[in-house]
This record gives sequence, C-alpha cells and structure tokens, in this order.
Amino acid sequence: MKALVLSGGSGTRLRPITHTSAKQLVPVANKPVLFYGLESLAAAGVTDVGIVVGHTAPEIEEAVGDGSAFGLNVSYIAQEEPLGLAHAVLISRDFLGDDDFVMYLGDNFIVGGITGLVEDFRRDRPDATILLTRVSDPRQFGVAVLGDDGTVAALEEKPEHPKSDLALVGVYLFSSAVHEAVRAVKPSWRGELEITDAIQYLIDDDARVHSEIIDGYWKDTGNVDDMLEVNRTILEGVEPRIDGEVDDASRIIGRVVVEPGAKVTGSRIVGPALIGAGTEVTDSYIGPYTAVAENCRILDSELEFSIMLRDSSLTGVRRIEASLIGRHVHGASRPRVPNAHRLVLGDHSTFEISS
Ligand code: G1P
Repeated sequence: MKALVLSGGSGTRLRPITHTSAKQLVPVANKPVLFYGLESLAAAGVTDVGIVVGHTAPEIEEAVGDGSAFGLNVSYIAQEEPLGLAHAVLISRDFLGDDDFVMYLGDNFIVGGITGLVEDFRRDRPDATILLTRVSDPRQFGVAVLGDDGTVAALEEKPEHPKSDLALVGVYLFSSAVHEAVRAVKPSWRGELEITDAIQYLIDDDARVHSEIIDGYWKDTGNVDDMLEVNRTILEGVEPRIDGEVDDASRIIGRVVVEPGAKVTGSRIVGPALIGAGTEVTDSYIGPYTAVAENCRILDSELEFSIMLRDSSLTGVRRIEASLIGRHVHGASRPRVPNAHRLVLGDHSTFEISS
C-alpha cells in the first residue's frame, strides 16, 4: 500500500486564517495540519508516500523534506496546474504502479487517524473506500447519497442543492481500478477532473465501493469556530510537558505544554494549553483550550479558548476569548486614548467589541 498526499491548490477559502500560501501548513494546535496526516500514514504502516505539489512546492518541501522525520519515504510529484484530484492520480501513475493506495488531502484532519481504515481495506480488498461525515453546509464538499442498504448510490461534487448532509472526507482508499476511472472522467464545471466523478464511474461500473461514516473530521473552510473546535479536540489529548522556564510566582494548572525557550513569569496558565517555543507570558492569564504559537509576547493580558499564531503580541488586553489571532498581530490597550477603539485590521478580518 502506498500513499498519495495532495498538497497543491491555492487555498482561497482560508482567509483570513492564514497568510501562508500553502493551506496544508495551517497550524492546528501549533502543528501544520499536513503533519497530522503524515503521522497517521506512518502509524498505519504506509511508508511510501508521494506528495503532489503545486506552486507552493518549496514551502511544502522545506517543511517535510525526505519524510524521514516522520518515518516515511517521501517523493514529490509536480502538478503544474491545479486541475483536480483525479488529475493528481492521473499524473502519479508511475509512482503508484498497480499498488493499492491511500489518497490523503493534506488540508484534512481526521481525529483518531486512519489505521483501522487501512486494515479494513487490506482485509476486504474493495475497489474503493470513501469516508463520509455529517456537515452543516454540504455545498462546500462532495456529497454522497446512500441507498437503503447503506451502499453508495450516488455522489455529487459541491451541489447547489445537496441531497444529503454526508460530505466526502478527503481520505480515500483505492485499488488500481481507479486508474481507468480517472482516465475516463471529463472536466467538471470548475474545470477540474473530480475524484468524485471517478468514484461515481466506479459505482456505475459495479465496482465495490465501500463507505464509512466518521466523526471527528475537520477541514479548514475559513470558519473560525471550526478551527477553535479542532484546536480544542487536540488539546484535550495533549501530554503535559514543561521544557521552558516557569518562575515560582507562576501557576500551571492541568495539561499544559511549555515548549523550550518559552518563559512564563508571574502568570497563571490553566490547561489544556500550549505555549510555543520562545514565547513569553508575563503577568498574564492563559485559559483552557488555548494554543499560543512560537515567539509571541503576552504581557498583562488574558487569553482563553483561542489560537494565537506566531510572532504576535498582546499587551494589557483583557479578556480575549474564542478568538483567532494571526501572525505578526499586535494588540494593546492604551489607557490615555479617548474612549474609542483604534483598529488596524487586514483584509477579511472580523472583530467584535463588548461595548
Ligand atoms: C475536495 C473534493 C470534495 C471533498 C473535499 C474534502 O474538494 O473535491 O469532494 O469533499 O475535497 O476536503 P476541494 O478541496 O477540491 O474543494
């Protein structure tokens, strides 16, 4: 079994969450979402991984390298243009040969990994296994309709009027039967060769297409609530570890990770929470379900149930809750300023104030 990990695309739905151009490198609990996928492949015993890359190839290659850090043997496959997921399979034929493979979309996050799915596929040897999950807005996904007996009756890519709330999750398992299907499909209305259409081709061809409904799925659709929720889920399982400095005047309560080079002074941190490498927390409160990335400064502030990306700062701000703070964002209170808010917000930002 091999793996094809898709890490191209342009990520237009991500705004304002990220200013990185590679959506697969969006941090989830201080780690790029792609890394969780690579780790779950390694855990499932799939080590030969081809990563399909587009114009963000340099960023992806810099982050993943040869894959040895993950126990993987990674090679890169260039997709000149984002012409669709089925196109990615098409151009990867030499790498895949006739092996079974997992296709994993690098911007998808599956709680609990894929080991069980890979084992089931190896045992049952269907032509394809698709994963489904219930979502509130299926129009942003491929959507499946199941027959009365639970088999997959039909699939539709990003329908305007979805016939179910079962979205296709971006992890698929295929036998070599998919190669004929990806050669047969025609570009969709968005000009892409859709893997959804290739799977429909398999269904029409009476191939064995299994489906499994899962919980605990996330993909970045630009929705802050979803992002906070996935962050919360991961922090729930974090192993406490203090590798940075915490002074005697500080209190660390519950599951908290303080990374090397981080400095906590005169502060109270209630886990689960992550304090990234090189970050300084001074005279502040960090509440549960908060991930602060690297090289941030939090001074005389309160932050809870939030995500703060690297190189940002808060000074004298309390309390920030349920918020997503990007990179190089600086927030401060100015007591002598008139009773007004002064904001410098980037494109696609949102803000809510309590007055
Ligand atoms: C792709 C698939 C879609 C699937 C989604 C999951 O969408 O085409 O069927 O539901 O991934 O992440 P895309 O990311 O290309 O919009």
